[in-house]
Amino acid sequence: MYLILDSVLVTLVTILADRRALAVPALSCVNYARHGDYNLGGMFSVHLDSRAPEGDRCSPKLYSFIMYVVESMVFAVDEINNRTDILPNVTLGFDIRDDCLSEDLALWTAMSLIHGQGTPLYDHLCPSKDTDQSGGVIGIVGPGRSSMSLTAASVADLFQIPMISYAATSDELSDKVKFPFFLRSVAPDRFQVDAIVDILDHFQWNYISILYSTDEYGINGARLLQQKAEEYGICVWLSVSIRASPSEREVSDVVQRLKQNTKSKVTVMFAVFQVANAVLSEAKRSGLPSNMTWIASDAWGHRLADFNNEDIAVGGLFIDMESNSVPIFETHFRTLTPNNNRQNPWFNTYWEYLLSTTNCSGVSDDKEQTVCILAHHEAGFSNKAIAAVLDAVYALAYALDSVLKDSCSGTITVDCRPRFNGTVYLDHLNAVNFQEHGGRFLFEDKGDPPGKYEIKNLQPIDGEYRMVPVGKWDAMKATVRLTINESRIYWAGGQTVIPESICREKCGPGYVPVPLSEACCWGCHRCPLDAIVVNGTQCEKCPKRFWPDVNYTRCDDYPEIPVSTNEPVILVVILLSGVGIILTILTVVGMLANSRHPRIKASSRELSYVNLAGLVLAYMTIFPLVIRPSNPSCSVAQTVISVCLTLTFAPTLLKCSRIFRIFRAGKRSTQRPRFISPKEQIIMVSIMVGLQLIISCLSAALPEDFSGGVDIYTYTPFLDGSGSLSDDNESADSHPIVSLTLYCKFGLGFLVSAVYNLLIIIGCCYYALRARHVPDNYNESKFIAVSVYSTLVLCLAVVPVYQTSDDIHMKIATLSLALVINAYVTLVCLYMPKFYIIYVIERRLQEAERMRSGSSFKDGRSSFKSSLRDSMRTMHHQPPVNTTVELFHSRGQDL
Ligand SMILES: *[C@@H]1O[C@H](CO)[C@@H](O)[C@H](O)[C@H]1NC(C)=O
Ligand SMILES: *[C@@H]1O[C@H](CO)[C@@H](O)[C@H](O)[C@H]1NC(C)=O
Ligand SMILES: *[C@@H]1O[C@H](CO)[C@@H](O)[C@H](O)[C@H]1NC(C)=O
Ligand SMILES: *[C@@H]1O[C@H](CO)[C@@H](O)[C@H](O)[C@H]1NC(C)=O
Ligand SMILES: *[C@@H]1O[C@H](CO)[C@@H](O)[C@H](O)[C@H]1NC(C)=O
Ligand SMILES: *[C@@H]1O[C@H](CO)[C@@H](O)[C@H](O)[C@H]1NC(C)=O
Ligand SMILES: *[C@@H]1O[C@H](CO)[C@@H](O)[C@H](O)[C@H]1NC(C)=O
Ligand SMILES: *[C@@H]1O[C@H](CO)[C@@H](O)[C@H](O)[C@H]1NC(C)=O
Ligand SMILES: *[C@@H]1O[C@H](CO)[C@@H](O)[C@H](O)[C@H]1NC(C)=O
Repeated sequence: MYLILDSVLVTLVTILADRRALAVPALSCVNYARHGDYNLGGMFSVHLDSRAPEGDRCSPKLYSFIMYVVESMVFAVDEINNRTDILPNVTLGFDIRDDCLSEDLALWTAMSLIHGQGTPLYDHLCPSKDTDQSGGVIGIVGPGRSSMSLTAASVADLFQIPMISYAATSDELSDKVKFPFFLRSVAPDRFQVDAIVDILDHFQWNYISILYSTDEYGINGARLLQQKAEEYGICVWLSVSIRASPSEREVSDVVQRLKQNTKSKVTVMFAVFQVANAVLSEAKRSGLPSNMTWIASDAWGHRLADFNNEDIAVGGLFIDMESNSVPIFETHFRTLTPNNNRQNPWFNTYWEYLLSTTNCSGVSDDKEQTVCILAHHEAGFSNKAIAAVLDAVYALAYALDSVLKDSCSGTITVDCRPRFNGTVYLDHLNAVNFQEHGGRFLFEDKGDPPGKYEIKNLQPIDGEYRMVPVGKWDAMKATVRLTINESRIYWAGGQTVIPESICREKCGPGYVPVPLSEACCWGCHRCPLDAIVVNGTQCEKCPKRFWPDVNYTRCDDYPEIPVSTNEPVILVVILLSGVGIILTILTVVGMLANSRHPRIKASSRELSYVNLAGLVLAYMTIFPLVIRPSNPSCSVAQTVISVCLTLTFAPTLLKCSRIFRIFRAGKRSTQRPRFISPKEQIIMVSIMVGLQLIISCLSAALPEDFSGGVDIYTYTPFLDGSGSLSDDNESADSHPIVSLTLYCKFGLGFLVSAVYNLLIIIGCCYYALRARHVPDNYNESKFIAVSVYSTLVLCLAVVPVYQTSDDIHMKIATLSLALVINAYVTLVCLYMPKFYIIYVIERRLQEAERMRSGSSFKDGRSSFKSSLRDSMRTMHHQPPVNTTVELFHSRGQDL
């Protein structure tokens, strides 16, 4: 603040000290005034500035559109004076001065307005013939530029005179510590930034470029834009400032970079028109693809045609101040001619300017010439400044009205007017809220009105380019500030859908975006095959028995593939099982038929029948496995498998241990070992099998984790262990073919059963080993050993295959086949030898016996017999029967 006051004083001292500068430009001493009870000041740039080292700061050239603005202030004052509802009994005056678009003169103009004619400072600098002692103004409208406002506002602060700019949009002026008396009737740029960010957010453009001009407007705009963008999660890929008169190199570098990035397809240009057009011209020259969508701050949209750049900017979105046209003022302005507007000191010059720019001078008739000139007003009427000036004047008037009514308790009379106090006035000014020509008007907390913008789209229509309004942005609307009609937008490059500007690959079905190392950029990551994509961002595994649909959006209940009994492996197993059952039945029949035969008797028939029952059960395991698996059927299958093994091996164990104990006992004494009677044996086998049944039943009743039960088997091709697709396969993008098969998973309970069976088998092995020296006739230990070893081997082979096999049929087949083979081995090893001896060898012996009794060839007979004995010997690999066995035999004991 002090810095600015310093600069004000330094400038004033310079002006005062410099004798030549004493001559404030003559043009700047001209004012347009009509005095009233209270006067409002106006600072307008009627003339352009002159940078010539010599002479005036004011150029004789008029700033063409300014006359509308000047007259709009006069119009507003007149209107207020005409009205009885505001400032009754009070005449408002005005004092309008020319600041020549110069910062220095803005300072002077503000000073001169505040001091007024008749003060020493003023009269010293602007020697005047006019002796009208007007005094100072109570408020100032203007100036039109941010740079000028920055200097003029410090004077306003110094003298506590409120100043309302109608066109300065710089955010710097919102600093109420620096500029407490500065207000404006035009929204500052930060609202424009909000509008741009809202647009970016609306169209989900989150990977953008920003180009801005290297001046207060651009730098501040870009700074705010980056800040806001970050809040909204919008990434700025490129942010470059460009000077107002850039070198060719500077611009072409920027355009080349824009060209290289194929993802950032939206560029915001917060720049003055010189910069914007330099960039667009270069873009056109270097062939930037026309699908770049430009978003324009308010400064450059209206100057495109001058640079012939409309074709490259087509499809862009342009932010523009929303301006209500004021028809009543337009009508009024059309009535003004040099003849009826003599008070305006600049109107003649303006009229001449109009004559020079039109060819109306050719019209000789005065009246027609006026009509001709007035026809050229049209273009200027869209100027946003008119509504802003009207608002500023009304704001000052309403505030004054409020001050006066406060101190006059409602009725304003000449007597009750208070001494003017700037601080009080400012307070009332900040509180105004009215609706006049420009719509509702109020100051937000910082003396700025909330922004209202129109969003326009540059479209090619009938061979020419037009700005078409497509939306609005209104800071006053709390919820939806932006309304935009997408269907009216013509997109850059004629695209038919909303263009994208995001650094993200389009993820196919089944993929989720994952952030890449580059900020804001996303790649795609494959979800596990059995997962769907939730909210487009997350993988979520489908529950068991479900599988993602082709779009990976839903988990579908896929019908499982039933186990087919037509599969060759399954058929083979069923066939073998059938044959096995028949063989087992034949064995039983054979045993019943020969139940008196010593060989059968010797092998404890009861246990053998239990064993054979186990074999039948083993052959039947295939059946609960091939029906559709369910928790009960799986429990049955587990039970059948466990029990059939127990049935098979428990009798074997008992037999082995019995033989072993008998022979061991026989060697030591004649005391008969315990538990060897058939009854006892049956009880023991029942206990063992019963135990297994209890284990199986308990395990079926346990929760699924222990009981096992039905599980789903999902078979997909190209699936690796982690559930991801093997890489680089074209088919990875398509939906993998899936087949779901149900199978029985064996749980912990089954493991307990298996361990139990294993203990029995180990027991068998133990006794088979110990009983290896028992005489052959009674010794099944070799066969038992073969059967047990083969069982162990089969188990070792089956477990990995069952666990790892892809094919459900293979799983079932290996499991059943193992049991079937085991049953065959048992059948062959334990029973075939007996029948071989009974039906083949003994029959031959009898035959030989018969032949010997009925034949005369003695020599031949004896030789046959001995060969028969040999063959028996080779079969048994054993010396003739032991005497201990004979002993038991004689006691009539079965072995
Ligand atoms: C003010 O009122 C007078 C007389 O009623 C009228 O002639 C004039 O046009 C009005 N001015 C404005 C600006 O309304
Ligand atoms: C833009 O146009 C260029 C060339 O015309 C093309 O290569 C590019 O894919 C387009 N980009 C988009 C996002 O449409
Ligand atoms: C000049 O005047 C003629 C007729 O008087 C009219 O046809 C022509 O359009 C005018 N030119 C301009 C630039 O106004
Ligand atoms: C104007 O002033 C007169 C007295 O000077 C007073 O009678 C009249 O009520 C005032 N008008 C209004 C609208 O306040
Ligand atoms: C203006 O009013 C404020 C209080 O409202 C007071 O503090 C200040 O001194 C007054 N200024 C002048 C110049 O009277
Ligand atoms: C958007 O513009 C189209 C075409 O002008 C119009 O038909 C439609 O009603 C507009 N929609 C809205 C919500 O204004
Ligand atoms: C998905 O989005 C919905 C609503 O947007 C939300 O309620 C839900 O929690 C989201 N789900 C996940 C997994 O993020
Ligand atoms: C998958 O998506 C495509 C395109 O979005 C759609 O046409 C199809 O109907 C969808 N299929 C399913 C099963 O949802
Ligand atoms: C890719 O999939 C095809 C079947 O679509 C298969 O034949 C081929 O072996 C697979 N290639 C690799 C590398 O996995």
